Amino acid sequence: MRVLVVGSGGREHALAWKVKQSPLVKEVFCAPGNAGVSKIAKRVNISPTDVYNLVRFAKENKIDLTIVGPEQPLSEGIVDRFQAEGLKIFGHKQSAAILEASKVFAKNFMKKYSIPTAKFESFDKEEEAIEFIKSVGVPIVIKADGLAAGKGVVVAKTEEEAIQSVKDMFRGKFGPASKRIVIEEYLEGEEASYICFVKDDKLVPMPTSQDHKRVFDNDEGPNTGGMGAYSPTSLITPQMEIEIQEKIMYPTLKGMINEGRPMSGFLYAGLMIGPKGINVLEFNVRMGDPETQPLMRRLKSDLVEHILEILEGNIEKVKPQWIEDYAIGVVMASRGYPDKYEKGHEIKGIEEAEKDTDIVVFHAGTEEKDGKIITNGGRVLTVTATGKDINQAREKVYNAIEKIHFEGALYRKDIGFREVNRNKP
Ligand code: AMP
Ligand code: GLY
Repeated sequence: MRVLVVGSGGREHALAWKVKQSPLVKEVFCAPGNAGVSKIAKRVNISPTDVYNLVRFAKENKIDLTIVGPEQPLSEGIVDRFQAEGLKIFGHKQSAAILEASKVFAKNFMKKYSIPTAKFESFDKEEEAIEFIKSVGVPIVIKADGLAAGKGVVVAKTEEEAIQSVKDMFRGKFGPASKRIVIEEYLEGEEASYICFVKDDKLVPMPTSQDHKRVFDNDEGPNTGGMGAYSPTSLITPQMEIEIQEKIMYPTLKGMINEGRPMSGFLYAGLMIGPKGINVLEFNVRMGDPETQPLMRRLKSDLVEHILEILEGNIEKVKPQWIEDYAIGVVMASRGYPDKYEKGHEIKGIEEAEKDTDIVVFHAGTEEKDGKIITNGGRVLTVTATGKDINQAREKVYNAIEKIHFEGALYRKDIGFREVNRNKP
């Protein structure tokens, strides 16, 4: 088979890496990929949202299966267009991708189907939003309606900060994504990611994982796309997993069918677990980045086989196998991320780090120039390791990171700290 992976991040490198291991697969393509991807796949210089040219490429190159990484092409209808051309593709149709693409849709949907989530109101007028903030007080959470790469959310601790972010959003800080906003109740607790393969009213869960959204250690600084993740997390007990499926995942799948928006692809619930129980912060219609990187390190069985079964309507046959070990991924980003960051610095030491066979370095914002690998994005690498427990996985990953260098490398030194604390005797 010839498989095309759409996207250019660490998630897509990890997916392509896993796809490449499938005995069913002869050749992997990645559009547009990154410098790391080029070692295992042919890079295709087409943007993930240039659907017209992706369709053309898939037809001309006899691509048997396309797997979509990011949300943007899904919400712009890549799946609908591929299917209309008779091309096999894994991901949600545009009608279902709205669950991630519009926070207003997602919040109203959750309310309608009694899926636990923070109380909220949506606004399209600055004055009304500011009035609302003054009436309920802080802390409070302000979210741009549309897609903003995980960065359109402000958790405001003071009224001034809340009002300022409302102003920023209505004045176009996130472009069209913030023409409407959601303001919601601040929920205390600890976050976890719950990701499943889904098809219509059925699901196959992946192991639990936990991301670290804030840019600095101790969860300080602004939100990012994610600075590191590990799997599994003991925050989610087997009992809680049943609750997540029964109160969140299945009602979501059934609700989406009821709305005429059946789901087919990955479904990721971002959860807040705390004094108010298990609540959904957001749904994503794709795999998480960086959660995918440790998850793919743990997947023993064949991802491509699973996806083909689902596309053939046989999701009940999908029984993925996972290694028992922990896996961890630590993101190395460019100084300045998630705001303006530097580019073009040479990266050294990846090969050295990967001499340890428990280490795999997935690339994101990297390019090749004159035989060198250089930084070319906010998130640059995800360094992953496996270990028999969280401590061992952490030790290995941070040893590997010490071998990797680029000017202004920014990474958190505490990925997995909550799991470490929880597992202390
Ligand atoms: P979202 O894109 O909606 O998942 O929000 C991004 C991040 O903002 C989440 O991962 C949380 O860290 C934080 N966040 C979002 N909503 C809330 C909330 N209601 N209460 C507390 N923190 C939140
Ligand atoms: N890891 C967070 C996300 O993918 O949205």
